[in-house]
Amino acid sequence: MAETNEAEVKEKTAEAESDIMIRADNLVKIYKTKETEVLALQGLDMTVERGELTAIIGNSGSGKSTFLNMIGGLDKPSAGALFVAGSNLFTMSESELVRYKRETVGFVWQNNGRNMLPFLSALENVMMPMYLSSLKQKQEKAMELLEMVGMAHKKGSRMNMLSGGEQQRVAIAIALANSPKILLADEPTGSVDYRTANYIFDVFSELNRNGQTILIVTHDVALSKKVKRVVAIRDGKISSERVLKEAYQDRLKESEIDWRSEDTQDEYAVLDRVGRLQLPQEMIQGLNLGDNKVRVAFQDGKIIISSPEEEKAEEEQPAEEEAAAEESTEPESTVSESNEE
Ligand SMILES: Nc1ncnc2c1ncn2[C@@H]1O[C@H](COP(=O)(O)OP(=O)(O)OP(=O)(O)O)[C@@H](O)[C@H]1O
Ligand SMILES: [Mg+2]
Repeated sequence: MAETNEAEVKEKTAEAESDIMIRADNLVKIYKTKETEVLALQGLDMTVERGELTAIIGNSGSGKSTFLNMIGGLDKPSAGALFVAGSNLFTMSESELVRYKRETVGFVWQNNGRNMLPFLSALENVMMPMYLSSLKQKQEKAMELLEMVGMAHKKGSRMNMLSGGEQQRVAIAIALANSPKILLADEPTGSVDYRTANYIFDVFSELNRNGQTILIVTHDVALSKKVKRVVAIRDGKISSERVLKEAYQDRLKESEIDWRSEDTQDEYAVLDRVGRLQLPQEMIQGLNLGDNKVRVAFQDGKIIISSPEEEKAEEEQPAEEEAAAEESTEPESTVSESNEE
């Protein structure tokens, strides 16, 4: 028992000191209802490094919120491993979890009413979750955060007098009140217009430039084009990843770039730790498969996936061609031989 604890402590320390902020290994989440079980996460692997800004995209029901809630300590994994800032989310006790939620993660939701009080001012709302000792310290820190999200001028306004976008910016300041190691946002721009969404994305980018690790779930594929790393979830697993092209790396804030239409990222399919790969649906359709079997071949350093039917047809074809060639191309082969000499 003592040995296990010691090993665990070592693992925690090693990870806390490393640059890895989130490590999900074969993460599984099963929701049980009376009639059925839903596999919301089906062996998800993902690593987020300290200081990264990552967006998660994916269809409705693909498991985005489930994953984020798990990192936020709001839900427990069913199987697999999840480490955040060196803490093992699987083995955490209730009291450790309370501390973890207070100190390690900050959460921004689509519906920002969730962590703010409408009858208090913006400043008071940001001060509320703080664990600093003096009122003066709290006020100073809250003002600093409101400035960071561009809301210092509305510090005295009651929350219910602010627009949706303004409330969302205050919500970000609230989430940062205890200087979390990681900021989580689930559809933070889901209920604001495009301009406001763009502004909020810029706030996240600015925070990230100052070193904040951020994970954002978004439906807005267009806006995600200005993020360095975009991970796509399909059916509870990471299927592909897009990485901002070199040419755009330093241009994230430039206003003349139309992030909605430009091809700013390179896309990659993602292999999981045991070598499984999700292929894009349109490519699978293009293979015209009879059933679910494909032929996999390794050729010239490339893995080639093809339909078994196509392969059969190709095998038959060259045999006929060869026979025809033998009959008629005797002189040609002499030519090629003489070339070799
Ligand atoms: N508390 C729950 N009980 C039962 N099933 C759940 C629960 N929460 C989520 N699910 C199911 O798990 C799957 C993943 O849900 P999740 O909320 O993570 O999806 P999502 O990607 O966030 O979708 P959306 O884009 O619509 O927010 C869905 O099939 C959903 O119905
Ligand atoms: Mg969701």
